[in-house]
Amino acid sequence: MLIKKPADIPYSEVTDRKLYVNRRDFIRAAAGVAAAGAGVVSISETLFAAGQPAPHGRKLDGVKKSPLSLAPEQEKTNTWDQITSYNNYYEFGTDKDSPSLVANKLKTEPWSVQVEGECAKRGNYSLDDILKGVALEERIYRHRCVEAWSMVIPWVGFPLSELIKKAEPTAKAKFVEFTTLVDYGTMPGVRQPVLRWPYVEGLRLDEAMHPLAIMAVGLYGEVLPKQNGAPLRLVVPWKYGFKGAKSIVRIRFTERQPMNSWQESAPQEYGFYSNVNPNVDHPRWTQASERRIGEFFKRKTLMFNGYADQVQGLYAGLDLKRNY
Ligand code: MTE
Repeated sequence: MLIKKPADIPYSEVTDRKLYVNRRDFIRAAAGVAAAGAGVVSISETLFAAGQPAPHGRKLDGVKKSPLSLAPEQEKTNTWDQITSYNNYYEFGTDKDSPSLVANKLKTEPWSVQVEGECAKRGNYSLDDILKGVALEERIYRHRCVEAWSMVIPWVGFPLSELIKKAEPTAKAKFVEFTTLVDYGTMPGVRQPVLRWPYVEGLRLDEAMHPLAIMAVGLYGEVLPKQNGAPLRLVVPWKYGFKGAKSIVRIRFTERQPMNSWQESAPQEYGFYSNVNPNVDHPRWTQASERRIGEFFKRKTLMFNGYADQVQGLYAGLDLKRNY
């Protein structure tokens, strides 16, 4: 399905200008869903409600601490309620609270991922297949949205490199493309032409193989809440949050650089690399500072979101201003 939005609708203003999704109409349409999930919530409460933190889910077994994680004393971790009620997941609406109010209908079991393209082990793999033999780790990471807000999130996941190795990419594979779910039954946002659905993201293969890049399946030691991209999402902590494709259903190895959704939508504003870079402003706002959710004063944004020592080698010789 190809639905185009006018090129002049910028990412950060989709919400503010409400050109396509009037929040009241959207929530009204979704109110049945929200009420069903949130227990006794009247329509009027739902219409004006702030985000609804996710109910606590199943505890994940055998989660190990990772040396690649921030230590809890290094950065204050955002709370469960903050992380699960302030989200970007446009398939459930463009307001920050919409995903938390309506994502509860998303069906995450059974779940499978189609592995395609330049790899030896193409096929349809269940989530259980993907998790077989995988050691789950806690990775507390900084999470920096291109809209200049940030959080610190204790993900549970496993290195993306492990999944890639299992797929056995061919010598031709240079990139990995991630495609996420479109479900008209449960995702009211995909009826709005905000982006061309499904949501697609991509990484260079060497970026995807970096030990900091993970597939997340959990949060705070529990199964990942739906609004955060259950059951399987990408987390690349040195890049802007939009690279973190949620609810992934297809992984494709390609020779050519994939087109990601936001680049397709507004190429002058969102690039393929999307590395956090305080020296390269967005055309309409600064990227030098950010608002940490829960804090009053802005803080300085760190190069590669604070992961420069680990990842800058990936970009040696690359002009980061041109390759934003
Ligand atoms: N994935 C899908 N499928 N749809 C989306 O709208 N939003 C992206 C990313 N992944 C998005 C998505 C953006 S813009 C951000 S900032 C992060 O998810 C937000 O993740 P969080 O809600 O867990 O903080």
